[in-house]
Amino acid sequence: MFGKKKVNPQIDQEQLALIKAAEKRIKQKRYLYLHFVVFLIGAVFLILANTVLGIGKDTTFFNIDWFVYAILIWLFLFLYHFINVFITHNFMGKDWEDQQREALVAKQQERIEQLKQEYLKEEKHIAKTQAYNETLGNISSDQKKKTKLTIIVAAGENNAIGKDNDLIWHLSDDLKRFKSLTNGHHIIMGRKTFESFPKPLPNRTHIVITRQEAYSVPDGVIVVNSLEDALDAAKKDMQPFIIGGGEIYKQSLALADKIEITRVHATFQDADTFFPEINTSIWKETHSEFHEKDNKHQYAFTFITYERR
Ligand SMILES: NC(=O)c1ccc[n+]([C@@H]2O[C@H](COP(=O)([O-])OP(=O)(O)OC[C@H]3O[C@@H](n4cnc5c(N)ncnc54)[C@H](OP(=O)(O)O)[C@@H]3O)[C@@H](O)[C@H]2O)c1
Repeated sequence: MFGKKKVNPQIDQEQLALIKAAEKRIKQKRYLYLHFVVFLIGAVFLILANTVLGIGKDTTFFNIDWFVYAILIWLFLFLYHFINVFITHNFMGKDWEDQQREALVAKQQERIEQLKQEYLKEEKHIAKTQAYNETLGNISSDQKKKTKLTIIVAAGENNAIGKDNDLIWHLSDDLKRFKSLTNGHHIIMGRKTFESFPKPLPNRTHIVITRQEAYSVPDGVIVVNSLEDALDAAKKDMQPFIIGGGEIYKQSLALADKIEITRVHATFQDADTFFPEINTSIWKETHSEFHEKDNKHQYAFTFITYERR
């Protein structure tokens, strides 16, 4: 999602075992083939030794030349080798096949469990969206259509948004834009983001989300215990803003209609808070405005507006 971890390509242990077993199998077959060739040459040699060179010409058992017995014994050994490769150790053995089957079943079960978890997560998102829509149910349908829950954020190229409960940069034009867009509106934030402000911002209704029962705030600031309650508290506003931080962005992305993002063109490796990845199959870029790096701005950045497709 955020700072991407470098993945070291690794061969799966099971794949490795499979490769080793396959190599062993190739060797077994190669030895059998060699045995066959040596047997053929050997048999011809034994026949020639007896018939042409006259070796053991007079040696017979039950009136049959000795080399016939020698060839038959060798043939028996070759057949034993053949049976060993193709019947006794058919493919990689029954134990190996059982092991592979068990591993496959275990993998499938793991995948099913994973899919179940994803399904539950998705269900939770849908329930949250329904709760939000119900919250909006108290206002007229005209208003509902116009209400735009907007996320406003500044994020680095790696989605970094903060470190040690503070911003990582100071971009005055971005702050100006934040002030002008949110002016007069409800701004919804997590408790940590609220605590990162020296004092509440003027001309905005602050809604602070916390799980604490008796969280104390200055007059005029609204405290709620869930995102749904925050949206409820802002329902009269046609454009409430989600202003962060990381936890609240993550929970509200599925509910938002619009994202106003300032993409700061730098990567902040030491950040500790991140914005979730924007999925462009869900979000469409509708506006973009580039701002060069200059004396007042340490980084170049782009104001980008995304709207839900
Ligand atoms: N770049 C930007 O645009 C931007 C904007 C805003 C903030 N930030 C940065 O983001 C960082 C702060 O973000 P963060 O993720 O650490 O904290 P956060 O989202 O601001 O606040 C987290 C707190 O919100 C409360 N909370 C979260 N989900 C809740 C829920 N479902 N129900 C009730 N309460 C809930 C909890 O408060 P309790 O612990 O009190 O229960 C939680 O500890 C800072 O570094 C800040 O500077 C950056």
